[in-house]
Amino acid sequence: MKNVLITGSTKGIGLAIKNELELSGYRVFGSGRSELNQDSYLCADLSDTNNAILLYEKAKQHLGNIDILINNAGEFLYSPIENINKDITQKLINLNFTTPCLLCSYVAKDMKKNNFGRIINIGSISGVVGEAYASIYSATKAGLGGLTKSLALELAQYNITVNQINPGWVETNLTNNALDKEEKEQTLDIIPQKRFIEPIEVAKLCKYLVSEDAKGLTGQNINLCAGLSCGA
Ligand SMILES: NC(=O)c1ccc[n+]([C@@H]2O[C@H](COP(=O)([O-])OP(=O)(O)OC[C@H]3O[C@@H](n4cnc5c(N)ncnc54)[C@H](OP(=O)(O)O)[C@@H]3O)[C@@H](O)[C@H]2O)c1
Repeated sequence: MKNVLITGSTKGIGLAIKNELELSGYRVFGSGRSELNQDSYLCADLSDTNNAILLYEKAKQHLGNIDILINNAGEFLYSPIENINKDITQKLINLNFTTPCLLCSYVAKDMKKNNFGRIINIGSISGVVGEAYASIYSATKAGLGGLTKSLALELAQYNITVNQINPGWVETNLTNNALDKEEKEQTLDIIPQKRFIEPIEVAKLCKYLVSEDAKGLTGQNINLCAGLSCGA
């Protein structure tokens, strides 16, 4: 059975993906900032890019080999552009973009040797259509989209697929912290399906993307957003 490294596995979308893959027999190594006493987990702040190599090494030590990488950990930043500064911007870029790039770089070497690999980046619909007052967040996720397509081309001949899932609003802590009750109702109103995506829906799509059935699917940005990307 295949081995998985997933970032941000302690809650929300990442936890749902971890649970779904474990139920299907995958061996999963997770990460987050929460203190968990588990061998298959590393507590590390990934906005410090030095921790990317540490995570890769710990996961490889535990799993033996990493067949599948899921770059899921990420944070949202809601702010008018006038209020951002260098530190806030750099920290978000580090977590949402640079650490995923580094992890791709580390695992690609092994995956090429094994002539097999699956990489999934969790982007956002905000990186596809843009989101006012979330410009830095949207830019980090749009950057991941470019990374996904380019890496898919670079790694295609090695039986390595690279895809991105761009969720719309998902019912998680991130959403509950970003929106108060009234804003949640206003947001629901503009979503064509009038509902939030559930974390398990992202997890089931991941399960498909890492499967043998999805071997021809690479370089794709898949918008799992209840219709939000289609326009009003
Ligand atoms: N929720 C949405 O509506 C939505 C929509 C589009 C895209 N997304 C994307 O989906 C991904 C997961 O989001 P979510 O909604 O599941 O968020 P969440 O419930 O807040 O969970 C975030 C996960 O990432 C980890 N994490 C956050 N900051 C970290 C850091 N600095 N270092 C290491 N780990 C960190 C958290 O670990 P700890 O809590 O243990 O620190 C947690 O496991 C993110 O990339 C997000 O941008 C979410």
